[in-house]
Amino acid sequence: MRFLLNYVFPFLLSSQFVLSSPTSTQSASSPSFTYNSKTFLLNGSPYQIIGGQMDPQRIPPQYWRDRLTKARAMGLNTIFSYVFWNLLEPVQGTWTSAEPANDIAEYFRIAQEVGLHVVLRPGPYICGEREWGGFPAWLADVPGMVVRSYNEPFLAASKSYIERLANDIRDLQITRGGPILMIQVENEYGSFGDEHNYTSALRDMLRENFEGMTLYTNDGGVDWTLEGGEVHTVLAEIDGDPTSGFKSRELYINDTTELGPLLDGEYYTWAPDQWGSYNPHNTTVGNPADVEQFVKDLDYVLGNQSASISLYMFHGGTNFGFGNGALWQNRTTAFTTSYDYGSPLDESGRTNDLYSTLRSTIQKFVPKGSIPDVPANLPRSTIPVFSLTPTASLFDNLGHAVSGQSPLTMEALKQSYGYTLYVHTAGSSTSGVVHPGDRARDRVIVYKNNVRQGIIDSQYQHPLNISVSLKKGDKLQLLVENLGRVDYYSRGNPYRNYLQDPYKGILGDVTIGEEVLKGWEMYPLSLDDVSFAPKASQYGAKVKADDPPVFYHGSFTVAKPKNSNPAVLDTYLSVPTGLKGNVWVNGFNLGRFWFVGPQQSLYLPGTIIKPGQQNDVVVLELEPGIRSGSENMVANGMAERAWGNNPDMDCENCV
Ligand SMILES: *[C@@H]1O[C@H](CO)[C@@H](O)[C@H](O)[C@H]1NC(C)=O
Ligand SMILES: *[C@@H]1O[C@H](CO)[C@@H](O)[C@H](O)[C@H]1NC(C)=O
Ligand SMILES: *[C@@H]1O[C@H](CO)[C@@H](O)[C@H](O)[C@H]1NC(C)=O
Ligand SMILES: *[C@@H]1O[C@H](CO)[C@@H](O)[C@H](O)[C@H]1NC(C)=O
Ligand SMILES: *[C@@H]1O[C@H](CO)[C@@H](O)[C@H](O)[C@H]1NC(C)=O
Ligand SMILES: *[C@@H]1O[C@H](CO)[C@@H](O)[C@H](O)[C@H]1NC(C)=O
Repeated sequence: MRFLLNYVFPFLLSSQFVLSSPTSTQSASSPSFTYNSKTFLLNGSPYQIIGGQMDPQRIPPQYWRDRLTKARAMGLNTIFSYVFWNLLEPVQGTWTSAEPANDIAEYFRIAQEVGLHVVLRPGPYICGEREWGGFPAWLADVPGMVVRSYNEPFLAASKSYIERLANDIRDLQITRGGPILMIQVENEYGSFGDEHNYTSALRDMLRENFEGMTLYTNDGGVDWTLEGGEVHTVLAEIDGDPTSGFKSRELYINDTTELGPLLDGEYYTWAPDQWGSYNPHNTTVGNPADVEQFVKDLDYVLGNQSASISLYMFHGGTNFGFGNGALWQNRTTAFTTSYDYGSPLDESGRTNDLYSTLRSTIQKFVPKGSIPDVPANLPRSTIPVFSLTPTASLFDNLGHAVSGQSPLTMEALKQSYGYTLYVHTAGSSTSGVVHPGDRARDRVIVYKNNVRQGIIDSQYQHPLNISVSLKKGDKLQLLVENLGRVDYYSRGNPYRNYLQDPYKGILGDVTIGEEVLKGWEMYPLSLDDVSFAPKASQYGAKVKADDPPVFYHGSFTVAKPKNSNPAVLDTYLSVPTGLKGNVWVNGFNLGRFWFVGPQQSLYLPGTIIKPGQQNDVVVLELEPGIRSGSENMVANGMAERAWGNNPDMDCENCV
């Protein structure tokens, strides 16, 4: 973007005529949100969007009001929200908005109650460092599917999604008295493609389903992203650095039906974390220069430019369960369970120093006294160390197998997330390096007769070569973890576009040396429900390093609090001798843990904890016995979290 600094502006393109929302059918007295060349207009009066991003499906629904109240109290007047299609329609045709966690309409109603407007970012692709950019995994199993494209199967699935979403939230449009001001078409599409027929089709779909609403696009602030992303008659906006982005918008958007007030639709405060021994937690703490830049940019956007902004993220929240996405850069780089993002409201919903700084900056641009007081931060609780007992081997709790000559992908097995175990029983002797299909998708733990041989991990540029030698009757077991489907691909980069190849598990044949292995038993282990994991030990022997994954079980109790709101305080759950795996509390999958960091504890919302009762904790340790030996593991709840990194015990020199 540096080239823009040397670019001489020939002229300003802003025109003076008033644009209105093209399909608006509202009379002058109905609520409306439109714009002219310079400013947004709410019911005809100028409106400056001071926004922040916060996605309901990353926050326990019981905390939506708390987080939204704190957004308003930082001075925001508008909340920007992605909608995660994969959680709303986990199985094709099954719509889950009746579940509190997916009740987007309720989130928007609360936003309105606390005095916020809403900008809806429904996708269908949302990126967001989410699994496959928010796409449901079942899309991958639909014949002929090409996502983010003028492709009939994709448009048909998207249409059905948009229709169902609109049925839930249409009444919350501004034109019907609700808080939703405007709606984004696709998401940063220009960095991915330039099929304008696709984005025009999405535009029309949104217009049909959200009649009379203002639409906008949001793209990176350079020429090719703006040119790929612009959609005729849709307001074109930028994200990232506002200084260069705003200039680019004026330079590269020439279609006057796309011009209007400037909005930086994603101003980054700060960045997500990825797993890795060398990745520090992204934070502005200890980096005052970054915060100074935020203040300067806010002054520039809200002051000098009288423009609009959305802080990405105001509050990141959590990629609970298997919700995170990943990038492919000739190796997999997976986002952490925490989506703290270094944002002004931390992962647990507490305000921090950045919050105070941004609040006082915003205060300069709004009427004195118009920002509500900041609610006090509640303390977090500690849970004393409790024991986790090994109760069962994962391999003794596999459920039903699907048999086949060749391996099927996770998607072909109708599985979306988690792990898949592929088992082959050797018919004759063979030996050599194991190739788990075309490549590791994504992290393959190799076992022979229940003894771990090594890990083929696509997080390394050069995954390890694991050799095995099998004789007739030996079992080769490949436990494949989906680390999160790729959520972002930028055209023109030298890497493969895995947004169009989201398959997990094993794709293609498994070979040992030159030999193709035929005959597989496949066990989908989505672990949606781990109630099958026994609470009392069925683990016959002591846990050894090289054992298959082990379920550990433990419990803790928390006294019933005297005042009932909130029922129980939040904490950060730590499994100090854990290496890699997942943690469930009362059946809720908190997410992944991994010793390498930078995340070293899991946000445990008080909403999941049952006061005065036994709270069940299940830990699936993928590599038991290595850090904890044959001892029990332990867990505890911490009031303050620590970030940090450790060597990768599976391969210290791998990167
Ligand atoms: C959509 O546009 C792309 C190029 O942008 C073109 O290749 C494709 O044929 C178009 N599809 C249809 C159905 O018009
Ligand atoms: C807008 O005009 C500039 C300068 O003539 C040109 O380089 C650019 O390609 C045009 N953009 C579009 C979207 O037409
Ligand atoms: C955030 O962390 C990732 C992974 O360590 C790193 O690549 C990236 O540069 C960081 N981003 C910022 C803005 O510091
Ligand atoms: C913004 O406005 C302030 C006050 O008018 C001025 O001092 C500053 O130079 C302006 N900054 C930019 C980047 O235009
Ligand atoms: C990615 O890996 C492939 C196969 O090893 C190689 O051909 C290609 O050059 C690599 N690309 C980059 C950008 O490293
Ligand atoms: C595995 O073997 C391949 C092919 O011989 C080689 O290119 C690669 O570097 C090896 N990987 C490691 C980590 O040694």
